[in-house]
Amino acid sequence: MEEHQDSDSALREDIRDLGELLGATLREQGGTELFETVERVRVLAKTARAGDDQAAQELERTLSELPPEQVTPVARAFSQFLNLANIAEQHHRVRRSREWARTPEAQPLFGSLAETVPRLAADMEPEQLHEAICSMDINLVFTAHPTEVQRRTMLQKYNRIAGLLDNRDRFGQTPTEVAETRLALKREITAAWHSDEIRRRRPTPQDEARWGLAVVEQTLWDAVPRYLRSLDHTLREHTGRPLPLDCAPITFGSWMGGDRDGNPNVTHRVTRDVAILSRWMAAYLYERDIQRLVSTLSLQVCDDELRDEVGGEAWEPYRVVLKRLRARLRQTMRWAEAKLQGGRPPESDILTEVEDLRQPLLRCYYSLQRVGAGVVAEGELLDTIRRVSCFGLTLMPMDIRQHADRHTAALDAITQAVGLGSYSEWDEETRQQWLFQELSHRRPLIPLDFKPEREVQEVLDTIHMLEEIGPDAVGAYIVSHASKPSDILAVELLQKECGLTHPTRVVPLFETRDTLARAADTMEVLFKSDWYRQRIGGRQEIMIGYSDSTKDAGHLTATWTLYQAQEQLVALSRRQRVDLTLFHGRGGSIGRGGGPTHAAILAQPPGSVDGTLRVTEQGEVMQAKFGLPGIALRNLELYTTSVLEATVRPPEPPPKRWREILERLSDRAMTAYRQTVKERPEFMDYFQAATPIDEISRLTIGSRPAKRAPDQMTVDSLRAIPWVFAWTQTRLMLPAWLGVGEALEEAIEEGLTEELQEMFARWPFFEAFLDMVEMVVAKAEPGVNRLYEHALVPDELHSVGDELRDRFARTRDAVLTVTGHEEPLSDFPVVKRAVEVRNPYVDPLNLLQVELLRRSRMCEDDSLRRGLQVVINGIAAGMRNTG
Ligand code: PGA
Repeated sequence: MEEHQDSDSALREDIRDLGELLGATLREQGGTELFETVERVRVLAKTARAGDDQAAQELERTLSELPPEQVTPVARAFSQFLNLANIAEQHHRVRRSREWARTPEAQPLFGSLAETVPRLAADMEPEQLHEAICSMDINLVFTAHPTEVQRRTMLQKYNRIAGLLDNRDRFGQTPTEVAETRLALKREITAAWHSDEIRRRRPTPQDEARWGLAVVEQTLWDAVPRYLRSLDHTLREHTGRPLPLDCAPITFGSWMGGDRDGNPNVTHRVTRDVAILSRWMAAYLYERDIQRLVSTLSLQVCDDELRDEVGGEAWEPYRVVLKRLRARLRQTMRWAEAKLQGGRPPESDILTEVEDLRQPLLRCYYSLQRVGAGVVAEGELLDTIRRVSCFGLTLMPMDIRQHADRHTAALDAITQAVGLGSYSEWDEETRQQWLFQELSHRRPLIPLDFKPEREVQEVLDTIHMLEEIGPDAVGAYIVSHASKPSDILAVELLQKECGLTHPTRVVPLFETRDTLARAADTMEVLFKSDWYRQRIGGRQEIMIGYSDSTKDAGHLTATWTLYQAQEQLVALSRRQRVDLTLFHGRGGSIGRGGGPTHAAILAQPPGSVDGTLRVTEQGEVMQAKFGLPGIALRNLELYTTSVLEATVRPPEPPPKRWREILERLSDRAMTAYRQTVKERPEFMDYFQAATPIDEISRLTIGSRPAKRAPDQMTVDSLRAIPWVFAWTQTRLMLPAWLGVGEALEEAIEEGLTEELQEMFARWPFFEAFLDMVEMVVAKAEPGVNRLYEHALVPDELHSVGDELRDRFARTRDAVLTVTGHEEPLSDFPVVKRAVEVRNPYVDPLNLLQVELLRRSRMCEDDSLRRGLQVVINGIAAGMRNTG
């Protein structure tokens, strides 16, 4: 405990120190006037937060009267402070886990290998435990979803600041070194102050892919072997056996450059280029490793096998083998460069199979072991071998994602061209019959002179391109908005018609309430077909979408529907003897299904995490979870322990009574949610007036548009990200709670309070859900939403806001009644403190946003637009998530 308090004071000190350095930078670089304004605003915001109404009014007045040229600098000051607080907190997490590791008497950190594995090992045979860990298959999929508002250059500065804070902790520094570190911190903060935090142009999908690859280079390349080392250590300790060299329980996938759903900028050429870029990057990173090994492995002793390979007279046998490998890696890089420039370089001598890379390394490894130099083998060489197991030759195989309607349109063009009529107009049964029949036919269907319109041609070109980039570069073909068996078969047929030698696995994405509820029926039709069973070879992956379902039916209903869909899919797969992998498409924020990894995985229904899991990691979450090596390590560990625990100790299925209660809650919540969001005509007008949705849609943070249908402003056409993002900015955070209050209130009125409390105490699923809602009600600030309303919303719509705020207050009360907490977050003091530290810095940004929106809606102006972008970034940093 004492340790803990000490370390919390270290965090406070870091934040204070960074704040002071920022203050000094403001004074030096922006002038005394700016510094004094910022200080005044900061003090007023703090006092206002403490309940002083006069200070609140003065704060509002000061900010609304701010001269135009001061608006952006003031906003930047608050925004930069919030970013510094975030980085200090991230660093603090690393510091805490190091402290834990250093303290022999401390309990191991919750969710660490050291805490989980011995607990589970107590009632498992060592072989079983070894098998459970080594057969795990966790795939973390990085998407290009536009929720990271920070530019990379700023993130790099923040990471360097974290590195400096780390230095300061680690070494008994001399006074000169302390002064130098402080100066280096100041340098970074000053450089950040003079850098533009807003991107000038929208990133291309290639830029997005490069950012994803940079995460591999900057953190995962080191974190993965470190993680595998500690897993190996744990296994040896508790099972007596090591982690096999080719075992990587966690691997990575990517949607960057492959996800074309609603993003016309992702074309088949882009996907091809990104696939080649990944191979280049892989070759480059391995080449760097091998170069290091060439310099260190100067040993002369080797076993006979290696000697035979290099010849009797070779002076330094390991170097001979490694140099050959290095030459092939360099050749691979040259090949990729030439391909990216449009050439057709020969493939001779490039690495095409992962074994081309692994085998020479293994030969060195075993030789060193045999000649008694195992300690050398277990160093950097082992790390590289383990990297090969995790990253292969492509680092992160890319999924393709396309909307189901685009495949329907492609097949429609084909059936019309061959005189069969219009596929789009056929009913589902006719489509299925025809698809199965065509899938079993050997003759080609597409006529040679087929010249479809551009969008159809793009679908076909994409599938053709899969053949060119090869099966190792591609993960799955995801069909978004899948609703029926033909949506999956359609892609199978298109792959057949395009002549793919290794057709990609087709994965349906079920993402509305209705399609999730029918998901098992949909899949059952397919599982009953001999053709389909043969095609999938006993393994099926199914993706379930959290954010679209939450947008469609509300948070409570979506969460329950997702739970049941998983149960039904698990039961179906068991009946049909198919191995199921569930792919969870969740966003970072709670309104898009986000939440702490560990609790979320342990809350899944029994049997759904059976050693295998795919999950998306998006936008700002990538920096939050994998931006710093220490944090990446912790997250890899958390994934491992939670998947292991959910696999070997799945939760009990909930009793029938709890299910009935949930069912009723869900019905009530959906009605309340939809009646407001979808059926109340003035609701969308309110949304558009009271939030910066239009400004968010114009942000240059991602390559794809904010809406599927550019001219419509309906909740269905708007993508989930900007929908949640806009409500987060104005702090009402409606998507995460709307509907929950009505449902709980009704149940409480019916006398179910005790049962709800028992469900909260004993059912991890319900506990995780309510914890998340409680977190949101703690972060939300309905009073802030009122400020937007008064300044921006026509009077006749104010009643919408009054009602929403009233419903928010009732939701808060109902949630607290069930959780039994006097105030939100009493179980999460760390989060509570983080919210409190940030509030006085976010409040002024909200007030500035209101003011800027008011001005910019009266007249368009570039400086107002820029100010708004800065403010949006700052609030996102303060809320620590965006959409
Ligand atoms: P999507 O994702 O719009 O790409 O389906 C939504 C989300 O991640 O929230």
